[in-house]
Amino acid sequence: MEQYGRVTDPVSSLRHSRIAGTGRYLPERILSNRELERMVDTTDEWIRTRTGMERRHMAADEQASSDLAIPAARAALEAASCDPAEIDLVVVGTTTPDLVFPNVGCMVQNALGIPPCGAFSCEAACTGWLYALSIADGMIRLGRANKALVVGVETLSRITDWSDRSTCVLFGDGAGAVVLEPSREPGMMGFLLGADGSHVDILRSRAGVSRNPQHFGSGGAAIRMKGSEVFKIAVRTMGGTVDRLLEEHGLDRGGIDWLIPHQANIRIIQAIGKRLNLPDERVILTVQDHGNTGAASIPLALDVAARDGRIQRGQRIMMVSFGGGLTWAAGLMQY
Ligand code: ACO
Repeated sequence: MEQYGRVTDPVSSLRHSRIAGTGRYLPERILSNRELERMVDTTDEWIRTRTGMERRHMAADEQASSDLAIPAARAALEAASCDPAEIDLVVVGTTTPDLVFPNVGCMVQNALGIPPCGAFSCEAACTGWLYALSIADGMIRLGRANKALVVGVETLSRITDWSDRSTCVLFGDGAGAVVLEPSREPGMMGFLLGADGSHVDILRSRAGVSRNPQHFGSGGAAIRMKGSEVFKIAVRTMGGTVDRLLEEHGLDRGGIDWLIPHQANIRIIQAIGKRLNLPDERVILTVQDHGNTGAASIPLALDVAARDGRIQRGQRIMMVSFGGGLTWAAGLMQY
């Protein structure tokens, strides 16, 4: 039985948080499967059938993660009709911060003119945004924050080995953001966070700031993955986490309107959709256009579906993610 950190807190059941607005930013440059065919030994057909991906966005050389996070956050503030002065917490999920420090949260805060408040990054690979959202929800419920900006951003192209066909076709860059505000009704209904550090070798980079720093700038930070092993554990842990969260809330598998999964592979997504008895049209899919954007993938997909009118207020949404660590998480909300 997997163990989970519990975020649901019955003591603060009178105060909840809800999403007031969403936003996204995708860099202009699009990298197609056809272009990848010219870079490594692969085919458009292999990429489409094995992953569901058709294209992904790439940050320009001069764009760091904060340059993607800032316009996404600005769009979320605008959608929420929220003045930056009202924000009193900034949390950013990312694997690819601009610098070791200051953290990306401080950069977003400064660029948007948000007054002094808590601002930090949360590092849990692709699961980073759901971890960040659960932290912000907890802070609002406890009364330690009132309005929070929660951003997921990645420039995974910077830690991609462009000569490794087993990984370079998978990843993309982008940012998604939400404004969370207090609410009498949920809103955020609950989260389950999970991690198992014993699988560190199947999904990792080999160099970093304090481990093998001599290789950091020479490709050592590139993503290395045993894809089929990751695939199996992803289906098992995401499926189990979703089941457990539904059970905790007394809901059966037909009890949700939309699934927004981490966009790592269409086959993983379809397996989770099936487990929830959801028809394909109730699963938000952006993997074909965005690729795997790590911690940005769920807030990007949420913004796409909120803006095109598919997701409506009052509907119940299951979000579920998975990434290096290994880490995983699920979040249930009434939009
Ligand atoms: N083009 C053509 N052939 C390829 C490519 C490619 N781009 N990549 C791998 N292959 C080949 C392999 O070499 C292998 O060939 P072989 O049979 O001759 O040895 C064959 O295709 C099958 O390889 P598998 O790895 O078994 O392929 P699989 O069907 O598992 O698909 C994939 C690979 C897409 C990576 C899949 O395993 C997957 O999606 N895994 C999960 C990824 C994921 O969820 N990551 C989590 C988050 S990432 C993060 O946290 C940063």
